[in-house]
Amino acid sequence: MKQAFITGITGQDGHYLSQLLLDKDYTVHGTIRRSSSINTERIDPLISKYQDSGQLNLYYSDLLDSSSLNLLIKKIQPDEVYNLAAQSHVAVSFKNPVFTTQTGTLGPLSLLEAIRSADNKIKYYQASSSEMYGGGKPSKLNENSLLDPKSPYAAAKVFAHHMTNIYRDSYSLFCSNGILFNHESPHRGETFVTRKITRAAGRIKLGLQKKLTLGNLEASRDWGFAGDYVEAMWMMLQHDTPDDWVIATGETYTVKEFLEKTFKKLDLSWEDYVETSHKYMRPNEVDYLLGDPTKAKKILGWEPKTSFSSLVDMMLESDLNLAKREQVLLSEGLIEPTWEHPKI
Ligand code: NAP
Ligand code: GDD
Repeated sequence: MKQAFITGITGQDGHYLSQLLLDKDYTVHGTIRRSSSINTERIDPLISKYQDSGQLNLYYSDLLDSSSLNLLIKKIQPDEVYNLAAQSHVAVSFKNPVFTTQTGTLGPLSLLEAIRSADNKIKYYQASSSEMYGGGKPSKLNENSLLDPKSPYAAAKVFAHHMTNIYRDSYSLFCSNGILFNHESPHRGETFVTRKITRAAGRIKLGLQKKLTLGNLEASRDWGFAGDYVEAMWMMLQHDTPDDWVIATGETYTVKEFLEKTFKKLDLSWEDYVETSHKYMRPNEVDYLLGDPTKAKKILGWEPKTSFSSLVDMMLESDLNLAKREQVLLSEGLIEPTWEHPKI
């Protein structure tokens, strides 16, 4: 039975990756952060199913607590480490630049050091990001494209990306960077734009919400499905050699196109509900992201399985169901109406 260690297991990708690895009979070890309210909602069904048998194990840790990471790596001696933890919201990284940078740089470095001193056969996956490119030119981006970060989040990811390469070259560690373009799902955080749109559309359709306030509608993103992308992470660590890999769909759509598609599926016109506000504009914007996943397709045999339209359908169906449950609670007087969600 292989042992996998996942940081950020409570996040969107943590949910899909742990499900994938548990299905493959891995024993999964994940780190969670202490918070004042319970933050394991996404993985609660997995906890119920796999914790008692010892196939899923959770530990309190934080990427800034190198001592706990070090102890856990030494104790567990995992076959594979997936570093998914990060303050992953680009707009928030401008508000909390120090925390975002510390987490995004010292975290991966602490893990690489822990692996180096524990066992150099441990394979390491670093969650690199298409944000590192900066999106200044409307061109297809691959593993050799220039990195030109535009936010504290992206700059921290560039540091970690280079460190992963440095540890690979200097110590012969198996360290791979997955340069993933945007990937979404019904488990996406509600303040990322796709989920903000599908959540609002579902609520608007059921009369629970009146308007949706967004920022830049012209930005373009290469959006895929998170379930497909975690498969690529696993494939990278099964490959003979460590490397950098772009994971993307090869298609790009603007935020406005995502809006149009979503509202049209509900027979609604987005213009009737959407406002824009400076509040959601960023000090520096990544205008255009389009990935070229040719290398991963040719060498790993990875392909995205979910189309843009199916992704919107999947998120919308889940958010309509969520809105229906909200409607029941509202009709029973158990919650108060909120005419816009989220307000942050
Ligand atoms: P996410 O949903 O925001 O999850 C982030 C995870 O990191 C959560 O489990 C969070 O814990 C944890 N975390 C945050 N700060 C931490 C710290 N200081 N110590 C330990 N854990 C911490 O992100 P995601 O979408 O799953 O993305 C996974 C990774 O891929 C991230 O590194 C992200 O930057 C990167 N990435 C994402 C995309 C994308 O489109 N989704 C694309 C490229 C790269 P809490 O639950 O307690 O907050
Ligand atoms: N979040 C958000 N909220 N974004 C908005 C809004 C809004 O109200 N209105 C417009 N946008 C625009 C943003 O300005 C950005 O251009 C685009 O929508 C996508 O924003 P996000 O969904 O927040 O994602 P992101 O592209 O900034 O970052 C995500 O993808 C990266 C990979 O490229 C995150 O998951 C990062 O962690 C990831 O690395």
